[in-house]
Amino acid sequence: MKILAISGSLRKASHNTAVVATLEELAPDSVTIERAEIGDLPLYNDDLDADAVPAVVRLKAQIRDADAVIIATPEYNYGVPGPLKNAIDWASRPGYKSVFASKPVGILGASGSTIGTARAHQQLKTILLGMLAQPFPYPEVLVAQAHAKIDSGVVTDRGTRDFLSKFLHAFVAWAPKVPPVAW
Ligand SMILES: Cc1cc2nc3c(=O)[nH]c(=O)nc-3n(C[C@H](O)[C@H](O)[C@H](O)COP(=O)(O)O)c2cc1C
Repeated sequence: MKILAISGSLRKASHNTAVVATLEELAPDSVTIERAEIGDLPLYNDDLDADAVPAVVRLKAQIRDADAVIIATPEYNYGVPGPLKNAIDWASRPGYKSVFASKPVGILGASGSTIGTARAHQQLKTILLGMLAQPFPYPEVLVAQAHAKIDSGVVTDRGTRDFLSKFLHAFVAWAPKVPPVAW
């Protein structure tokens, strides 16, 4: 199974990118996790020809070729960070028939706060439904107070690693069984 992982943060020392790196470590042999690069996407502009923007072409191909997508997102001002929303908007065209349509998507988030990224999760689920993607029904996976659980680019806290492993195995078991959206 091929999973595309998108970190919603462009920061080199990002806690969310560390969560992605940890999922790579925890993945069973049957799973490959490829990372998406969203930092070189231009701001969404409908006047641009998406087929002529290499970063857009690459992102769409990565999503199309993946069996499922996992998004690890920070929360910015109670919402989904701009760079992540921008990437999603690029990949979301044509509406309802994009590479996201019917795609199983797992959501996680890491933040320094105690509430994790719960509000961003809610928004992201709604956004995904707007593209006919299929958000993984699972209790929120929030890595709260992430600074205390991450070291050298990976999650080191034992309980959090177990939690992430449980999420990943449940997602891998669920995603292949999701029927495509019919409309
Ligand atoms: C512009 C901005 C807004 C933020 N707003 C929130 C917020 O609403 N809720 C929250 O939990 N953390 C918020 N934070 C803190 C981030 O969650 C924290 O910096 C997190 O580590 C960012 O993710 P990253 O480490 O993957 O870059 C904000 C940070 C920035 C830069």
